[in-house]
Amino acid sequence: MPTTCVIGVQWGDEGKGKIVDLLSEKSDMIVRYQGGANAGHTVVVKGRKVVLHHVPSGILHANKICVIAHGVVLDPQSLFQELDDLRKFGVVVGKNLLVSDRAHLVMPYHKVLDAIWEGEASGAAKIGTTLRGIGPCYTDKVARKGLRVVDLMKPRKFRARLEEILREKNKILRLYGRPPLALRALYDESMAHAARLRPMVAETVAVVHDAVDRGKNVLFEGAQGAMLDIDLGTYPYVTSSNSDVCGVSSGTGIPPKKIGKVIGVAKAYCTRVGGGPFPTEMEEEQGNQVRQQGAEYGATTGRPRRCGWFDGVASRFAVRINGIDEMVITKMDVLSAVKRIRFARRYSYRGRMYDDIPADTDILESCRALYDEFPGWEEDISAVRRERNLPAAARRYLAAVERFLGCPISIVSVGSDREANIIRK
Ligand code: IMP
Repeated sequence: MPTTCVIGVQWGDEGKGKIVDLLSEKSDMIVRYQGGANAGHTVVVKGRKVVLHHVPSGILHANKICVIAHGVVLDPQSLFQELDDLRKFGVVVGKNLLVSDRAHLVMPYHKVLDAIWEGEASGAAKIGTTLRGIGPCYTDKVARKGLRVVDLMKPRKFRARLEEILREKNKILRLYGRPPLALRALYDESMAHAARLRPMVAETVAVVHDAVDRGKNVLFEGAQGAMLDIDLGTYPYVTSSNSDVCGVSSGTGIPPKKIGKVIGVAKAYCTRVGGGPFPTEMEEEQGNQVRQQGAEYGATTGRPRRCGWFDGVASRFAVRINGIDEMVITKMDVLSAVKRIRFARRYSYRGRMYDDIPADTDILESCRALYDEFPGWEEDISAVRRERNLPAAARRYLAAVERFLGCPISIVSVGSDREANIIRK
């Protein structure tokens, strides 16, 4: 079946943007199915960097259809900014981008509420969100209080719904001492968005189904990572959508049996941004070195990412729940700076061993990761394009990751540029 899904198996930022860009070459259609402007997919083309938040990375290739499906929460303002940035980059987006009429809209009050929830929370209760309004928007969706793209296309109905919603939102804002939002201004802004969005709006369930039925190569682009999944991630330090493979079906309308290959992406080490347990977090000095070497700063928020060793326990869990067929290991070149490389194969907590990631956040916070250690290769591998030219220590590390995850590694990325890859099969 020619459909493929790309999933992050860690806490996001695995380098999916680069891999989707690479796989897009052989795809006809690229579909984003969950998350929103919280994602930051970085693609480097000939030394120039572009960061995408909603638009699938396939947009950088000619003659591809890119779809923002209904599982995505759409922030029109952020989308338009992205389209303007793409134009500056030399990519003019036209009929090749389709936006689902069922997608929920991230409204300005969602962003205010995100900031309030984060601001009111103290210490460990802070999730460390991207403040893009993602949680409040999905909350409204589930509470059946959301506004969708299809509503935006019907001005009178939209205004009436917005008025009703604002009445409640403004009560909440008042409770927190925030100024109320004016209906008129919000409505006018929304209508300006509607005008620009209208040509992109489509019944994407039918569009994607038709492409699948015609045997087209359809690529589903995951955002965030499996450990940030609302159901199976390190709850509550997660995002508000299904960032695992299950999100493909609910977020596009394509049934599970029509999802073909599932590709998992992991860094050769691990990062996490925001709060929450991170059993393999590195000591400060080592973390700083990797952060520096790997330019580990959030693509959306610029926040420094927390750096850790490869977490075999979390990644193997992700391989299992997503049915990963093959793995891509990214940023292998970053480990060239590290003398001794660690790989976590178990957790230990109060004398008990854990081979699977526990649901209990307290255990995850306090458990000890048990590591295997590997000698580093301490040489620049960024120009290597064939596996046999990798240092033996790098090959041994990859073989150990592959064995532990029980899943073949098909691509190893050794640099941010499009061409910096070792294709293993
Ligand atoms: P939210 O998705 O903005 O609500 O943030 C919830 C959690 O997910 C926070 O820890 C964020 O840092 C994290 N997160 C959200 N999107 C991404 C991403 O694209 N990469 C990495 N972490 C993310």
